[in-house]
Parts: sequence; structure tokens; C-alpha cells
Amino acid sequence: MSFDERDYWQGSIRIKDKLYPRFIGGPLDGITDAPFRRLVREFSADELLYTEMRHVACVANDKGGVKSLNFEQLERPLNYQVAANHERFIAQALERIVAKGVDMVDLNIGCPARNVIGSGSGSALMADLPRLKQILVAMRSNLNVPFTLKIRAGFKTVNAVEVAQLAQDCGVDALAIHPRLQTQHFEGRPDYALVAEVKKAIQIPVIVSGGVVNFKTAQMVYEQTGVDGYLIGRGIWAKPWKLHEMREHAAGREFVVDRALIYRCALRHFELMLDYYGLHAVYVFRKHLPFYVRGLPDAAELRKFLVTVTDPELIKQGLTQAMAGSL
Ligand SMILES: Cc1cc2nc3c(=O)[nH]c(=O)nc-3n(C[C@H](O)[C@H](O)[C@H](O)COP(=O)(O)O)c2cc1C
Repeated sequence: MSFDERDYWQGSIRIKDKLYPRFIGGPLDGITDAPFRRLVREFSADELLYTEMRHVACVANDKGGVKSLNFEQLERPLNYQVAANHERFIAQALERIVAKGVDMVDLNIGCPARNVIGSGSGSALMADLPRLKQILVAMRSNLNVPFTLKIRAGFKTVNAVEVAQLAQDCGVDALAIHPRLQTQHFEGRPDYALVAEVKKAIQIPVIVSGGVVNFKTAQMVYEQTGVDGYLIGRGIWAKPWKLHEMREHAAGREFVVDRALIYRCALRHFELMLDYYGLHAVYVFRKHLPFYVRGLPDAAELRKFLVTVTDPELIKQGLTQAMAGSL
């Protein structure tokens, strides 16, 4: 690593007037929820974490904020992500979000899901720039915290550079780009050459989202794009240590991931989920467990046992025994 590169990896991303580590916890709906973010915090104190996307109408109409404002201050620094298809509800939703206490708010115009684009939000907005502009202006004028935007390469055709320039002109403070079209969903090679074009076209910080799973891939993406930050999506799933691991590797230090760490995290994750979801955690945890145990020698046996058990104490016992290597 050259002297300049080492400086870069020891540096930070500046969003408005604050510095954050370059590796950022990305939004994965249904996965990176409050209990998971709390677990990530046990490894990473100051890394920025995105919440999953919530529509501004849901936030504005949610009585007591139970369903949508489901985060706590200990999860900060937090970037609260919203979707919108209209200016309606924006002022009310943003007031509630900011009043609860967040570090910034993100608008997601990258979501490819059919029900989302069907209502004109998510990545559909990348094909409707007049409406996108109205929404960006409304959000900016209702926010006294930094405002970020998450985009794709485009909707059906590539227009990320144009959208990035519009975002900058409307006062967006940082831009994350997942360089795939809506039609590609989450598959296919991310277009890093497009990310490099976006980075050159605007002055606000650019964060890349897509295919960065460890420090080595971050280095490779940096060489191709020159971006300021890295949003880690699927790479953090069942790996709550990931942002810390990447930071250690970037500093030239080792970080060992062994079966004891994996099972310790799975157990802690389950405990945090029980606190948050109550007994329903038993079922929600079933989508995380296969990702924790993937590749471990006793994975199949343990998974078979844990996904049939409904008593949380038995699940904890199973994970504790696995951690000690006695299962
Ligand atoms: C299961 C799943 C849920 C996702 N949920 C969101 C979301 O709520 N908001 C968002 O901006 N992106 C969401 N994404 C997209 C990711 O944040 C990310 O942009 C994409 O997966 C590419 O990055 P990766 O290769 O690091 O996963 C989701 C992706 C997946 C696979």
C-alpha cells in the first residue's frame, strides 16, 4: 500500500460538518433491524448505520411511531431512510423522525420492488426527474439535519450522472449509488465505471453500494472509482463484526473470525431479538441462523435442531453448546 493510500484508508468521509469512518452499515429490509444494529454497535461505536426504508406516509400516520420509528438513541450515528412518491406527508414524517433524534435522513430512490415502483416511489423516481426534484426540494426545506440520497444506475436506462447532479443542485449532502438498473435487481456485475463518472461529476461525497464484502474488495472498488465511502449490504448479514473487521484490516491489523465468535454473535443476536420482538424472535431468528452457520462443519445438524425448536431457552442452550464446541 502506498503512503497516499494508507492516508486515505485512515481518513474519514465528511458528510456536511461531521466525519464518519468510511465503512458504513447499509440498509437491508427485514435484516438490519434495531436488534441487529444494536449488535453491530457492540463492535463499532462510531460507524454510520442506515435504517431500512419506511415510506413517509407510514411514518406520518403511525400512531406513537411504534412501527416506523423503531430505533433507539444507542443505535446512533443513524441515517434514517425513507421512500416517497409525493410531497404529501414529507413535512410531518421528517418532523417526527428528527424529533426522535437521528444524525441524517436518506431518501431511497433505488428500490426495485414491484409494489414500491408501482406507487411511483423507489427507483421509479429515477425516470421522473420533475417529480424527483419536487420531492428533493420538499425534503431539503423540511430538514435541519444532513440529507442523503441513495440511487441506482437508473430505472430502465442509465441516468445516474444526471440524477446525481440534480441531487447536488437540490442541496443533498451525500450520495450513495448502487450501480445496477432496476431491471437487474441485486444481480449482475456492479457498474463501477459509472460510479467513477458520478464521482467526477459532483463535489458532494459519494458512497458506493454493491459488491463490497471485505477490505480487499473495498480496495479494488476504490482503485476503480475513487469514492469516499462504502455501504456494506449483504456483506454484513450475520456478520455484525464486519465494519470493525474492515477497519482493522484497513489499519493493517488482524481480525480473527472463528466459530466461537460466530456462535457468540448468533447467541447475542438472538438475545437482542428476544428483548425486541418477544417470543416472535424464535421465528424471525430462523432467517438469520443459516447465514451464521453457513460453511461450519456442524451447520446442517445445528440448523435442523434450531429451526424446529420453539423454546427460546433450548435455542440459547444449543448456541451456547455450539460456541463451546460441544455440539
Ligand atoms: C434483502 C435486501 C433488502 C434490502 N433492503 C434495502 C432497503 O431497505 N433500502 C435500501 O436502500 N436498499 C436495500 N437493499 C439494497 C442494499 O442496501 C444494497 O444497495 C444492495 O444489496 C447492493 O449492495 P451489496 O452488494 O453490499 O448487498 C436491500 C437488499 C437486499 C438484498
